[in-house]
This record gives sequence, structure tokens and C-alpha cells, in this order.
Amino acid sequence: MKQFLRYRFSTVLGVVGAGQMGTGIAIVGSAVAGLRVRVVDVNEQRLNASHNFVSKWCDKEIQKNRMTDQIKTDVLQRFSFHLQMSDLASCDFVVEAAPEKFEMKAEIFRQLVKATKPETILASNTSSISITKLAGITDRPDRIIGMHFMNPVPVMKLIEVIKGLQTSQQTLDTTLELASKMKKEIVIAQDIPGFIANRILMPYINEAIQTLHEGIGTVEGIDKAMKLGTNVPMGPLTLADFIGLDTCLEIMRVLHQDLGDSKYRPCPLLVNYVNAGWLGKKSGRGFYKY
Ligand SMILES: NC(=O)c1ccc[n+]([C@@H]2O[C@H](COP(=O)([O-])OP(=O)(O)OC[C@H]3O[C@@H](n4cnc5c(N)ncnc54)[C@H](O)[C@@H]3O)[C@@H](O)[C@H]2O)c1
Ligand SMILES: *[C@@H]1O[C@H](CO)[C@@H](O)[C@H](O)[C@H]1NC(C)=O
Ligand SMILES: *[C@@H]1O[C@H](CO)[C@@H](O)[C@H](O)[C@H]1NC(C)=O
Repeated sequence: MKQFLRYRFSTVLGVVGAGQMGTGIAIVGSAVAGLRVRVVDVNEQRLNASHNFVSKWCDKEIQKNRMTDQIKTDVLQRFSFHLQMSDLASCDFVVEAAPEKFEMKAEIFRQLVKATKPETILASNTSSISITKLAGITDRPDRIIGMHFMNPVPVMKLIEVIKGLQTSQQTLDTTLELASKMKKEIVIAQDIPGFIANRILMPYINEAIQTLHEGIGTVEGIDKAMKLGTNVPMGPLTLADFIGLDTCLEIMRVLHQDLGDSKYRPCPLLVNYVNAGWLGKKSGRGFYKY
């Protein structure tokens, strides 16, 4: 119960993109950090779905005895949902969680620069786009930072914080303070493709798929070897199915292109699975059937 705050901080948090990640970030901002949260999306249906999700999430917390009806009311009162970027004018800190396409993020950052105060910090949840490059198109490169939240946001403890070349110490300090209000653990990474988590995880998953491709082990065998042999909660092929094989392939392609090293070459079997539409759990079939 004490993890949910009933009081308000003066900071107003903006979230751009009311998808899975954006909604999760907004929940943690309101329910855990006690911030007022303004959520913007271009799609009204997504905004409504996000609103409903927050309410249902609170109900589940109440059922688990972790929240009261009063706290739910407070959490929802701190929320507002908007279709216009200009509604973020009062925000001190904005986290962008729109789809992972550079041109789209660039356009959002251009709009954010116009919509917000010059001192507002703009953070991106990008997993593969350069923070330094995004910062370059704004009027405030020192106030641009990466906050890479893990999915599902309310559950996962980690935020990978990415420092662009021009990110200031003050911006970093404010971001760390926000992360700590959200009761998250952080790790600071430099702005090099993949940062820390994906740089290590994706080549590992890719190598597991290569091991399957070469017939060295079966799907079950490879997962069992890693799960019981290295004490990870799930094997690499199960994990790949959960993440989405298209996402895994996209990240491998970024590592391959941007780091220019053939060791990041996506496994041909991974490419074939994605071409077949076998994307993992979300499509009903990946290395396993769901
Ligand atoms: N979350 C995951 O586990 C996961 C898995 C696989 C792939 N992805 C990738 O991550 C990206 C998005 O992640 P998500 O899960 O939050 O997806 P999402 O699509 O649910 O969320 C993105 C939101 O941003 C909104 N948006 C788009 N353009 C906007 C704009 N200009 N201004 C404001 N809002 C805008 C969209 O309407 C959408 O609601 C996608 O590229 C997706 O392919 C995510
Ligand atoms: C979203 O919710 C509002 C208010 O409940 C409603 O008027 C509107 O029609 C909904 N929009 C969509 C696209 O579902
Ligand atoms: C945010 O980062 C997470 C973790 O990599 C990723 O799953 C998700 O696609 C990203 N979402 C957005 C909307 O940027």
C-alpha cells in the first residue's frame, strides 16, 4: 500500500503515445511517483483504451489489496488525456513513447519543442534511435535524454538511462530523481546502438537461433540448456517469442548496420520466421505454438 502515493509533487509529467509502453509509463508516474500526468496520442480510440486500462489496472491492484478506492480516485484524478501536443505546455518533463521510426520521433520532438517551456526535459523511450541525433534537431540538446523502460513498465524494475553526447549533468540528475520517485532502478548507458541490455541480449538470442539453425540442438533442448545451465528464468527461444521475432530482427539489423560488424548478422532462420509471419506469442506461432 505504501508504494502508492496520495500526495502530489508539483512536477507535471507528459507522455506522448498512449500505447502499451506510454500507458505503463503514465501509470508509474501517477500511481507510484504521485505526479500529475498528461497523456497525448493522435488516436482518440487509443486514448480511450489507455484511460480504461489505467482504471482496470487500479481495480486489479485493489483486488490484490495493494490499493484502496480512495487512492484509485487520486491516481485517476492526476491523469488527463489529450489529442494535441500543445496540451503539454505545463509539463516539466515529457517522455515520448511513439513507434520506433526515426522520422516519426523527429516530428514529435519538433512539435514538443514548440509546445513546451524551454526548460522542459524531453526524454525518449527509444530502444535503437540515437539520442544525440534526436537532440540535434531540437533547440535544447542539453535537455534531451533517453529513458528506456522495460515492458511491462509497472512490473519491470529497470530503466536504462541514455546520455547523449550533449546531455547535461543537470538533465541527468533530474532524470535520476524522476526514476527514483518512480521506484525504479537505473543503469546509465552511453549513446551507442543497442545501449547495454539489447547489445548483450539480442546477439545472445540470435546465437540461440543460429544454434537451432545448425541443428546443434532442438528448440526445447536449447532453452533447457540455458535455463537450467545458466539459471535464467526462461530460455532464449521462449524469450524471443515473448519479445516478438520482428522486434528481435529489427534490433539485430540496427546493430549490424550501425556498428558495421558482421558478428551482428541476423540469423537466416530468424529472417525466414519473420517473413513467414511467425512472430512469436503475439501471432500464435514462433519457436513454440500458442
Ligand atoms: N511493447 C512491446 O513489447 C513491443 C513489442 C514489439 C514491438 N514493439 C514496437 O514498439 C513500438 C511501440 O510500442 P508500444 O507497445 O507502446 O506500441 P503502440 O503502438 O501501442 O504505441 C504507440 C502509440 O503512439 C501513438 N502515436 C503515433 N504517432 C503519434 C504522434 N505523432 N503523436 C502522438 N502519439 C502518436 C499511437 O497512436 C500509439 O497509440 C512499435 O514500433 C512496435 O512495433 C513493441
Ligand atoms: C472516447 O471517449 C469519449 C468519452 O467517453 C467518447 O465521447 C468518444 O466517442 C470516444 N471515442 C472513441 C474513438 O472511441
Ligand atoms: C520502449 O522500450 C521497450 C523496451 O525495449 C520496447 O519494448 C518498446 O517497444 C518501446 N516502446 C516505445 C513505444 O518506444
